[in-house]
Amino acid sequence: MARMQPDARSAPAALRNRDPILGVLRRVLPERGRILELASGTGEHAVHFARAFPGLEWQPSEPDPAMRASIAAHAETAGLANLRAPAALDLAAPEWWTALPPGTQPLAAVVAINLVHIAPWRVTVALFEGGAQILRGGGIVVLYGPYNVGGAYTADSNEAFDRDLRARNPEWGLRDVFEVAQLAADLGFELAETVDMPANNKSLIFRRRVAKTKDWPEF
Ligand SMILES: C[S@@+](CC[C@H](N)C(=O)[O-])C[C@H]1O[C@@H](n2cnc3c(N)ncnc32)[C@H](O)[C@@H]1O
Repeated sequence: MARMQPDARSAPAALRNRDPILGVLRRVLPERGRILELASGTGEHAVHFARAFPGLEWQPSEPDPAMRASIAAHAETAGLANLRAPAALDLAAPEWWTALPPGTQPLAAVVAINLVHIAPWRVTVALFEGGAQILRGGGIVVLYGPYNVGGAYTADSNEAFDRDLRARNPEWGLRDVFEVAQLAADLGFELAETVDMPANNKSLIFRRRVAKTKDWPEF
């Protein structure tokens, strides 16, 4: 068995949710193309998904250098040809998408797991602003995490988690599916699918609208 590299970290939640998320990705990701993962954390998701999708090129990213070291360590152990080195991407930086490594585009999808509630709202805004810059029409954004629906918590545990998050940082907290869908719509994405996931989480699948071309016939 391969030895764990010293920088490699492990997140119990990532190990619990990676297979349910993989089930969703199998349905919504194309067979070929490049995928950008934002806020990759330990890198365990990146390794799991790159291994599961040999036809995809997986680009992990993280603003935290210690986490980038963890991603690189997991990647070295895994030795996967389709897993790229972690990029230093911080969605709070202006026009964060300009820091994408050369050769990352065109992108088929952007994936962000457990980011939206552990960051200020402006990070979610920046996520879709960037998505609109780097995804073509038909490209998808996959979000995973706990969400409210129509202004209400979907479980008591989510309410407790939200209180805990806001105590840690008043700018953090659970977002509402409708609120995220409205933001996405304003930036050219439609909410294509909402999938209920284990432990009161959801996967939200957004698709970038195909722009009408200039040669669209006028009536
Ligand atoms: C709860 S962890 C989730 C990590 C990983 N996706 C997972 O599910 O195991 C939240 C992650 O968001 C990252 N993050 C926080 N603010 C960010 C930002 N402005 N831009 C990009 N990533 C950010 C953190 O560094 C951290 O790795």
